[in-house]
Amino acid sequence: MKTPSIPLFFSLTLLASSSASGYTWPSPQYDALEKLLYEGTRLDGQSLADLTSGCKSRQGGGNVAAQWLRFAFHDFVTRDAAAGTGGIDASLFYELDRAENPGTGMTATAAEYLLFASKYISRADVVAIGATLGVTSCGGLNIPFRWGRIDATTDGPYGVPEIDQSIATHTQRFGTAGLSPTEMILLVGCGHTLGGVHSANFPNVVPPSGGQDVIQQFDTTGNKFDYTVALEYLAGTTKNPLVTAANVTLRSDARIFGSDGGATLRKFVLTPSQAQASCRTVLTKMLEGVPKDTVFTETIEILPAKVIDPKLTVENGHLIFQADLRLTQAIGSNAPSSRIVTMSWCDARGSAANCTGTMNTARAAATSQPPSSPVALQEGYYFNQYSFRVPVSSTQSVGSFWFTVKDGASTSTYTNGGALYKLEQDNIIFTPRLIESSNTGSHGHHRGPRGSGGFQTSSGSHEIRSELFPSEVFVDSIEVAKSNTQLPVKSTTTLSPSQSIKPVGGYKFYSGTIQADTSGLTFDISAVIGGVTYTEEYL
Ligand code: HEM
Ligand SMILES: *[C@@H]1O[C@H](CO)[C@@H](O)[C@H](O)[C@H]1NC(C)=O
Ligand SMILES: *[C@@H]1O[C@H](CO)[C@@H](O)[C@H](O)[C@H]1NC(C)=O
Repeated sequence: MKTPSIPLFFSLTLLASSSASGYTWPSPQYDALEKLLYEGTRLDGQSLADLTSGCKSRQGGGNVAAQWLRFAFHDFVTRDAAAGTGGIDASLFYELDRAENPGTGMTATAAEYLLFASKYISRADVVAIGATLGVTSCGGLNIPFRWGRIDATTDGPYGVPEIDQSIATHTQRFGTAGLSPTEMILLVGCGHTLGGVHSANFPNVVPPSGGQDVIQQFDTTGNKFDYTVALEYLAGTTKNPLVTAANVTLRSDARIFGSDGGATLRKFVLTPSQAQASCRTVLTKMLEGVPKDTVFTETIEILPAKVIDPKLTVENGHLIFQADLRLTQAIGSNAPSSRIVTMSWCDARGSAANCTGTMNTARAAATSQPPSSPVALQEGYYFNQYSFRVPVSSTQSVGSFWFTVKDGASTSTYTNGGALYKLEQDNIIFTPRLIESSNTGSHGHHRGPRGSGGFQTSSGSHEIRSELFPSEVFVDSIEVAKSNTQLPVKSTTTLSPSQSIKPVGGYKFYSGTIQADTSGLTFDISAVIGGVTYTEEYL
């Protein structure tokens, strides 16, 4: 009974034996990206999508989605497709002091994005997700998202197109980045439907007035993601400052849109749905213009039934098993009020282990609705989440578990494609409620402490089965980067047996102090027991 009953690295075994068809639980990276794309949040609930939802503009001017899309373009456009270098690689974070990347929109975007990169989500993937969330929030089509972009660790070549350059220079620049002249016209048409030109950044195009940043929009529908900028160009009614600038040399959009006599744009505007589809195609190509070492994964699809954060933990002095099941619900419909959601599980230890004896069941203890990002809403879904909190004993523990949803006469079961969900190990568990942070004093439900300034997080919260004697207990933590040119800060902290917290439910506590900033921390906790390392990951 003292030997672990679950093979180590169970997840690796599962992944190796799973077919190529998409998602198999567990996949913490898929889960994290799916959450950022469809709920719009990182692990602790902090929201990226909220910054742009409803096609928001910033206080003091500037549309968020426009800035996020422009950010992606500037990161992309210095790509050398033939050499396989550059593209969406987040090198722009190191290039924001360049004259070719002007504007507070750029620096604001970088500051927002930094908070959402993590162990599993590269900055470059955040750049792509941001552009996707932004476009969708303003009425564009969802752009299929695949992940795997690799972050540059230093700046890349110059070469963002300038408004006074010739059409030949622009065609060549886009060509080197991997886009044809037609794709160049479409991409500019799809980009310059959001936002406009700021007098603060281009006073020679938009004259400043009254000391304020004047934004002259590219089209009369403002920040709606549509094709009005092309329609108005073709109709000769455009107010696009890059077509109408007093100084002819600065009319870069006029040169680009007119470079084939308007043929591409005339085709583009034939129907709204065709225009949107063209934008999706060319924006996908931009967001997937990446360095050659990138290995893209499958497209992240919304998970109709997602198991969230299953774990053994301690609450109110009791050992409990907690797990959540998140279900999609079509917008305009409600889950039946009679719905009964049940979790079933088998013991991992003792006489009834491995589903050889009585199984256990419990009804959901609470229902909540996690946020839906603009991308989820466009796909027609919101979420209902069912939370389970059941007492367990450490002599029985939890092995396999699965879910049943009964809607009147119809019953659905969620069994992870038959493999069942499985708790990977129970030798070491984590208790978020025992996190204390020295500046808020709160017993955090949050993974990262909040507030401002540097302070300590004291985590009296790592528990080891009492009968085990680890040779080492430690936390590997990753803090989000605090500046554009800094990488996330990694550190390892050794934990020692807690003097103050008494054993609970067959677990003894280890604690330690992690120096942490306020902006975001994720960590893995590990214990080495009999030469084997057990880890609770990505907390
Ligand atoms: C030759 C190509 C291009 C040139 C010369 C160019 C130039 C410019 C300039 C001068 C601005 C005004 C920026 C400011 O005042 O802060 C601007 C804004 C913008 N550009 Fe481009 N652009 C080009 C292509 C693109 C492409 C391909 C996209 C996206 C796919 C794009 C997306 C945007 C967006 C969304 C804005 C609005 C930003 C805001 O409102 O803050 N641009 N562009
Ligand atoms: C027009 O812009 C170009 C490029 O910035 C500049 O060299 C030229 O002097 C400008 N012309 C006028 C009349 O301002
Ligand atoms: C349960 O399965 C584990 C691993 O396959 C095994 O070591 C253990 O003996 C089993 N327990 C029972 C009671 O069958």
